[in-house]
Parts: sequence; C-alpha cells; structure tokens
Amino acid sequence: MSISYSHLSVLSEEVIKYLKPRNDQNYVDCTLGGGGHASKILESTKPNGKLLGFDLDPHACQAAKQNLGKYKDRVIILCQSYVHLKKEVEKNNFKNISGILLDLGLSSDHIDKADRGFSFKDHGSLDMRFNPEKQTLTASDIVLSWPEDKITNILREYGEIKQAKSLAKGLVTWRKEFVKQKQKKALLTSVFNSAILRILGIKESSLKKYRIHPATRIFQSLRIAVNSELDNIKKVLPQAIDILEPGGRLAVISFHSLEDRIVKHYFKQAIKACTCPPSAPVCSCQIKVKIKIKTKKAIKPSQAEVARNPRSRSAILRVVEKL
Ligand SMILES: C[S@@+](CC[C@H](N)C(=O)[O-])C[C@H]1O[C@@H](n2cnc3c(N)ncnc32)[C@H](O)[C@@H]1O
Repeated sequence: MSISYSHLSVLSEEVIKYLKPRNDQNYVDCTLGGGGHASKILESTKPNGKLLGFDLDPHACQAAKQNLGKYKDRVIILCQSYVHLKKEVEKNNFKNISGILLDLGLSSDHIDKADRGFSFKDHGSLDMRFNPEKQTLTASDIVLSWPEDKITNILREYGEIKQAKSLAKGLVTWRKEFVKQKQKKALLTSVFNSAILRILGIKESSLKKYRIHPATRIFQSLRIAVNSELDNIKKVLPQAIDILEPGGRLAVISFHSLEDRIVKHYFKQAIKACTCPPSAPVCSCQIKVKIKIKTKKAIKPSQAEVARNPRSRSAILRVVEKL
C-alpha cells in the first residue's frame, strides 16, 4: 500500500546550491520528512554517496522509506530524534560527512492529518507528539493538568504572547468546567480553539480581520513544549559541526524567530576567535573559530515558491562551513 505524504520541500534549490552535493559524498539529513530534500541530495551523490537520515515521526520514516526506495542501498533511515546525531553517526560507522541538513519544525503532513492534533482548524484530539509511540506527554496533558504558572511560561517563552498570564488564568478557569463536564474525554483541537476565542473575547465572525489566527501562537507554544523543540536545536547544532569534515557544510531552515534566534546565536559563538591578549605566551581561553558563515544574509523563498507553496513563506535558510 502506498503511503501518502503531503509535504512540499521548502527552499530545495537553495539547499542544493549551498550544500553542493557531489558524486560519492556522504550526507546527513536530520529531518527526513517524506525524503524530498534527501532524494535531491542522493541524486547528486550518485553512484556511491550515502545518506544517513533521521525522523522522529514513524509515519515520516515510512514515507521516506517508500519515497527513497530507489536509493535504498545508499540510505540508512533512523526513526529517532536527531539529538542522538553524534552517537548514531559513530554507531553506524558513517564517515566523511560533507553536509548536514536540518529542516526544522513540523511538516504539512502533521498539519493536514486531523488525528495528529496540530491544527486548530480540525477536530482531532489535541495531541501534537511527533512520535506518539515514544513520547508520552501530549498538548492536551499540558492544557488540562499543568499548573497555571507553567502554562504562563510556555505561552510567554514559546508563543511570545504578551497577555500570557491572563490567558493562562482564563484557560485554567475554563478547564475546570471542561473536566467536570467531559469526565476525561479527549480534548479536541476544535473545542480548544473555541475556548481560546472565548477567553480572548473574539467572535468567530470577526476572525477575518486578524493577519494570523489568534490561536496560532498558542498552538505553536504547546507544540514546542510537547516536542522540546528549542532544546533539541540547541543540542544538535554543536554535534553537527563536530561531525562534519573540514569544508563540510551545515544548512538549517527555521520557520520562526525563536528557532532562527538559536541558530544565529550558535553560529555567532562558533565564529569567535581566541580572546587572549596578544601578549599571552599561550592561548588559555581555548576559543577556536569553528566555522565560516556562507549566508551573510539569511536566504528566503522566492515569490514564485511562496505562490506555489504558501507554507514556505516564513522559511529562513542559514548555511555555515566547517573550518
Ligand atoms: C519540515 S519537515 C522536513 C521535511 C523534509 N525536509 C522534506 O523534504 O520532506 C520536519 C521534519 O522533522 C521531523 N522532526 C522534528 N523534530 C525532530 C527531531 N528532534 N528529530 C528528528 N526529526 C524531527 C518532523 O517529524 C518532520 O517530519
């Protein structure tokens, strides 16, 4: 049976241009999704280049396995988090890595499948786990059981919501009634969305005047908390630089400012040189320049790409090269 996967790869041409895959080179794709970027890399690394691919989501792994079938002798698919990058590269004896791709966040497939619980436009259970087999905490658990101050924190930090405190207070008041009435029935995304609008005092009929739906940032903050997304990015970046061959490149596609800030900050640290005074006989700070930045200005999708795939509109690509 064929596995459907709705995601369209973002900034594909630009990723290939900057990663420069050539015959027989080895690459790592930390976020395979349906294997869109990976297939382009594998096409360019014929006949012997290998690709090690990660995805946390079992459905994405199946889709990638299917879509990369014709390259199967050159691909290793690991259905687990990229935070284990270095360990897995060593375990699989994967060497001479010329490039690494991180295409962050979620895929269209997550948004389009109601039962994954990522979309406020649907009626699935408010779940949001990238890997429901390995992760236990759901977005619904957070909304229905976390203390008000912890909910305030994630709304503020992961959603950058100014009225986080009053929103969390409203949610805690609303959930008391919900739990009483529903007696442990699943919290649906649509029900949660309506509750948010009620707490914010927004009528469905007035939604058109908002540039982004008022629930967007709240859903984003829950998703980031459920999947520890920002911590994972902080963990993987130094590992990626560490395992690259000198001259190898790391390309990162972010989709919002929280992700991009972490990437930018890490790259800024990694281009710092020794800070010891010139008079010091030996370096005591141990700071070494690790990378050079290949994208002085972040790369964004062309108008044509955004017209073709509106979900690409917030993508930001940054690329560095290991020294
Ligand atoms: C934007 S999609 C990648 C799409 C892919 N580049 C393509 O061309 O089809 C991001 C993918 O990263 C996966 N993901 C998110 N966090 C992850 C993690 N910590 N480890 C591995 N995969 C992760 C998601 O499950 C999702 O499939």
